[in-house]
Amino acid sequence: MIKLIGQNKIKTAVFISGAGSNLKNLIKFSKKKNSPIEINLILSSTNKAKGLKYSKLFKIEKKISNSEKKILSILSKKNINFICLAGYMKILSKKFIKKFKGKIINIHPSLLPKYKGLNTHQRVINNKEQYSGCTVHYVSPKLDSGKIILQKKIKIKNLDTFKTLQKKILKQEYKLYPAAIKKIFFNL
Ligand code: GRF
Repeated sequence: MIKLIGQNKIKTAVFISGAGSNLKNLIKFSKKKNSPIEINLILSSTNKAKGLKYSKLFKIEKKISNSEKKILSILSKKNINFICLAGYMKILSKKFIKKFKGKIINIHPSLLPKYKGLNTHQRVINNKEQYSGCTVHYVSPKLDSGKIILQKKIKIKNLDTFKTLQKKILKQEYKLYPAAIKKIFFNL
């Protein structure tokens, strides 16, 4: 487990592939006094990720790579000790996860262990579920199956669609991800 030493914040990388709204939210959180992390790197699996714009906006270094060897070397050069996956669409290898054991977390838009994988909101709506939500969990070699850190449940209304559900859950994600990080480092 990683420990906070003195006033030093944990050097963190956020991995993205898309819009990066969780990235933006985590950057804002990281700037608060009571945040245990600082974000030193944005790693994207694609140069098409809209979230890359937050690199310039917040003056945080960005890298685009899909080579784990390259990624590991970048992380090591920057002394990164913690990784937050936020809409990262690549599956990390067992070897990579082992190297960062207990130091990679992810946010998933469902009440895990239900609805692992992609298209969660549509599947939830199709199955006429009454509840959905989001989960922050440690990353283990099995997809969306690592130990759960925090979860938030929301009620689905009759009129909810894929779109409205996605919006509602994203709003909860912005609270849950920082809360999970505080739980890890401060046991809050
Ligand atoms: C979020 O719903 C997150 O739970 C999932 O991918 C989405 C990423 O959205 N893993 P954004 O790129 O943070 O806006």
